[in-house]
Amino acid sequence: MNVAMPGAAGGKSALISEPADIVVFGGSGDLSKRKLLPALYSAELEGRMPPEGRIIAVSRAKQTDESFVAIAEQSIFTDAKLKRDEETWARFSARLGYTPLDATDGFSYKGLADRLSSAPDRIRVFYLATAPDLFGVIADNLASNKLITPQTRLVVEKPLGHDLASSQAINAELGKFFDESQIYRIDHYLGKEAVQNLMALRFANSMFEPLWNRNFIDHVQITVAETVGVGGRWAYYDKSGALRDMIQNHMLQLLTLVAMEPPISLAAQAVRDEKLKVLKSLHHIKGTEIGQYTVRGQYRSGAVDGQPVPGYLEEKDAKGASDNETFVAIKTGIDNWRWSGVPFYLRTGKRLTERCSEIAIEFTRPPHLLYAREAGSIEPNVLVIRVQPNESVKLLLLNKEPGPGDLRLKQTALNLSFADTFGHIPDAYERLLLDVIRGRQTLFMSRAEVEEAWRWTDNIINGWREYPQPIRPYPAGGWGPASALALIERDGRSWRDDLN
Ligand code: BG6
Repeated sequence: MNVAMPGAAGGKSALISEPADIVVFGGSGDLSKRKLLPALYSAELEGRMPPEGRIIAVSRAKQTDESFVAIAEQSIFTDAKLKRDEETWARFSARLGYTPLDATDGFSYKGLADRLSSAPDRIRVFYLATAPDLFGVIADNLASNKLITPQTRLVVEKPLGHDLASSQAINAELGKFFDESQIYRIDHYLGKEAVQNLMALRFANSMFEPLWNRNFIDHVQITVAETVGVGGRWAYYDKSGALRDMIQNHMLQLLTLVAMEPPISLAAQAVRDEKLKVLKSLHHIKGTEIGQYTVRGQYRSGAVDGQPVPGYLEEKDAKGASDNETFVAIKTGIDNWRWSGVPFYLRTGKRLTERCSEIAIEFTRPPHLLYAREAGSIEPNVLVIRVQPNESVKLLLLNKEPGPGDLRLKQTALNLSFADTFGHIPDAYERLLLDVIRGRQTLFMSRAEVEEAWRWTDNIINGWREYPQPIRPYPAGGWGPASALALIERDGRSWRDDLN
């Protein structure tokens, strides 16, 4: 049977033949410069951009078409260090334009409307790389300027609210002007190759699925460790914290892909339905469980990669005392037949030892021990999906150490490195932007998913309010507070800190 993966990295089958205009609100801002422009240029370099179409940045800044081209050139070649190919750059830079606009002022959309009016039937993408409190007013102004056509898609970035109520308000606001099928809620983790591969691994191979349940899986660990601090984003981050910033979205999305039932197809609705069921079955951590199943930490000064770094409260834009968490560890579970009794341990933090995101599926130990203690400890099999850096899939197995002496077992890895096997790994934003143009929503979050994830998160936030959890300090450059170790060690398990 032919398994056509919408997330396939290679095949040229998905080349875009229809012209498309992409309008980026906040177009000269950080996300646009760091991620969007390099991703679109990369797509051009690989011949994946639509045959015709423009990339129009809009914002309040006083730029011109020419100065925006210079900004893009700097971001793409100097900062992102992408390969400069003159022919590609000529083609790409000819697409670029800039229109000044105040997102909150409906009259100022005239320049944009004039520009877009030359191609009214094209695919039109509005990418809102702005603060979420502008989403509603932008949608309203696009509608009142008659810029929303049947071919229009709207892309919104997180944070989609700071709790369930605010997220519902944003979604309701967008829903007044856009059909759900036109809204693309980005979680860039879903565009990462190793994350897309998770579905292929589970559903295009026959060997894992029979084992993928409470009978053979002991527990699952999901770690997203960062070495960066929050310098430069303190004002945003101090209102958010690691739970809202990473767990509510990226990590719960990873968890849903690990835990979902096989969807009936790869169509967006089918995949979203299954992910939603997982979110609805997540064990809600409430009341006194808060202290038992959650740990909050905050980094102090320390050293990362041999360099001294300040603590959270000493970051240069820090505003004094704060008990906001920069680290969180959680034990949860999924209350359904497949996963009943299988713990899911999640942890994420800033200023940890190394940058590493991975999902580890630890299998149960063999039921009967044939080997003497001297042969070594019987380590469990672990399937490790390394999301970044150095994307890979590893299967840890016990093997006999070669040699004529006493029998000894050694845990060794079957290791599939993506870079060695497939070469260049495209950035998540490239895949996601192209999927928006292609009209594929599978890798984007539905309204129901986002809201269900908030429902679960809100319970933890409320629990922290009702049963205040001390914020545990940890030195920058470590693996987080000691109580995060205790969280898992209480269950006779440990974090996989051998993350290489
Ligand atoms: C963002 C968070 O969504 O993801 C950041 O707001 C975090 O705080 C970032 O650093 C991590 O993304 P990546 O792709 O670098 O793992």
